[in-house]
Amino acid sequence: MCGIVGAIQRNGGVVETLLQGLRLLEYRGYDSAGVAVLEAGAIKIRRKAGRLERLEQVLSDGSLDNARAGIGHTRWATHGPPSDENAHPHTDQEGRVALVHNGVVENWAELRAELEAAGVRFASDTDTEVLAHLVGREMARGQDLASAVRASLARVRGYYAIAAVAQGEQGVRIVCARSGPPLAVAAGPDGVYLASDVLALIAHTRDVIFLEDGDVAELELGHAPIVTRIDGTRVDRPTRRVEWDPEQAGKGSFPHFMLKEIHEQPDVLARTAFDRLRLDKGDVDFGVPGFTDHELRAVDRLQIVACGTALHAGWIARYLIEGLARLPVDVDYASEFRYRDPVLAHNTLALAISQSGETADTLAALRLAKTLGARTAAICNVVGSTLVREAQATILTHAGPEIGVASTKAFVAQVVAAFLFAVRLGRARGVLSLERGRELVSELRLLRPKMESLLGERAVSEVRAIAQKNQGQKGFLFLGRGINYPIALEGALKLKEISYVHAEGYPAGEMKHGPIALIEPAMSILVVNSAGPLAEKVRSNLEQVRARGGHVIAIGSDKESIAQSDEHVLVPECSEWLSPILNVIPLQLVAYHMADLKGFDIDKPRNLAKSVTVE
Ligand code: F6R
Repeated sequence: MCGIVGAIQRNGGVVETLLQGLRLLEYRGYDSAGVAVLEAGAIKIRRKAGRLERLEQVLSDGSLDNARAGIGHTRWATHGPPSDENAHPHTDQEGRVALVHNGVVENWAELRAELEAAGVRFASDTDTEVLAHLVGREMARGQDLASAVRASLARVRGYYAIAAVAQGEQGVRIVCARSGPPLAVAAGPDGVYLASDVLALIAHTRDVIFLEDGDVAELELGHAPIVTRIDGTRVDRPTRRVEWDPEQAGKGSFPHFMLKEIHEQPDVLARTAFDRLRLDKGDVDFGVPGFTDHELRAVDRLQIVACGTALHAGWIARYLIEGLARLPVDVDYASEFRYRDPVLAHNTLALAISQSGETADTLAALRLAKTLGARTAAICNVVGSTLVREAQATILTHAGPEIGVASTKAFVAQVVAAFLFAVRLGRARGVLSLERGRELVSELRLLRPKMESLLGERAVSEVRAIAQKNQGQKGFLFLGRGINYPIALEGALKLKEISYVHAEGYPAGEMKHGPIALIEPAMSILVVNSAGPLAEKVRSNLEQVRARGGHVIAIGSDKESIAQSDEHVLVPECSEWLSPILNVIPLQLVAYHMADLKGFDIDKPRNLAKSVTVE
């Protein structure tokens, strides 16, 4: 989705700062980019369809190098195709104001008709341009930029994060606002900044203010950001410290973020879990409110909502929580839950799982659950995100910034967090004994070297050979059962997202009810099977595939499946409850290497956005 940055700097060079910020937001997905800067009170705009490099090329003439204030944008087209004209920033007819926008103005057609009737001529197909004209019109009536933005937003239906600059205003100022998509502001030693993601702020300062829906902020050099509501009332928003290291936002020596993030997973396990484990008590301590025995005993049912990869973590959470804590769990696509008029049992805890904490459907589903009387909780990776601020209790995953669009380390962190939650729930509800609790937390501690072994040179080259051999196949079916069924779903999702091949995940036992018709030698069947009570059942499913000439790739610790397969990755043994964390690694690597062999843009797959802040 679109990305927004803005800065006013003491020492000039704002164009480079804006570009650096936009580079860090590239992961969000975009098709054009632009900047507007203020130079001697005049607005200067450069914008280009296509990759950021095209904009960089235009800016390399140095004509804007002295500017000290500006805003920038990466656009993910919603209204009008990706073109230079539709790229942001947009201005009003007189060029008084320049504005960038992430989101959708739902009543744009109505507002456009009104403005056109008043003689305004539009220069683009975008909904955003409506906002620029509205703000410009308010300024023409004598309002300052902040009041003009507030008055204009009061007329808008929809969701937005915006930033605007105005020509010739006394004292250089940027005004920004949010209602829906995320926006954070910060004052550092050398300037004031805003961005859609803290990643673009931490190079300047780690102390940031996350704006709330309905906030409008004014940024001016040498002042703390002034935050008001749309009606002009002043509000105080806390400054929060973001512990992410700016270096984590780089690729290091890896060719792609996705590969770097896959390799970070053993550390992510340690960061998310180890400090929270209480070995002596066979328990987990989250160190935040919401997870005491008393609070958890009051829960009779859990409703999980999430999207995409996070939903797959939700399915695994269901196996873990029902299995270890004996609490009934429902799992739903957030986008389905929010529109199906759901019925929630008494004493339901609604748990949203999300990397970004900004996914529109997930947020809407959790809000709905709250209005239906549920208590709310979140598993989330981003401090200060909307989800973290709205949920009544949060388990933060410590995956660090995830930049590759295909989620990998955030998924592992979500599964680890779900495991911790299951143990805590089991202990709180008295269904998990001290001894069993101790065994489980000790097993989690032993997982790190096993994950590392799957990322060693030999293991990785085995996976690359599998990707090479199978890259011409017609299709891919991923099969798994029990707690590894969601891993089959996740393996298939990863492969289709970045390798653009058809892949489907299926419960292995369900194959004979339809998908078995697909099986032929040109179809690769990846069977996820780890030692455990269902291993034998999966083996017989595997045999059914072989009997029909399917090409079988076995992944897991079940040695008999490995012996029955055409190709395989042997995964170290571990408790069945933890096996998804190991089994997903070769599947992530198969997807990565296949995409790499095909020469695709792994970190920015076509049509995908990292954080889906619109419906
Ligand atoms: C897949 C992927 C998406 C996200 C989904 C939810 O690799 O990244 O399916 O998992 O859009 O995003 P979050 O977790 O930010 O709510």
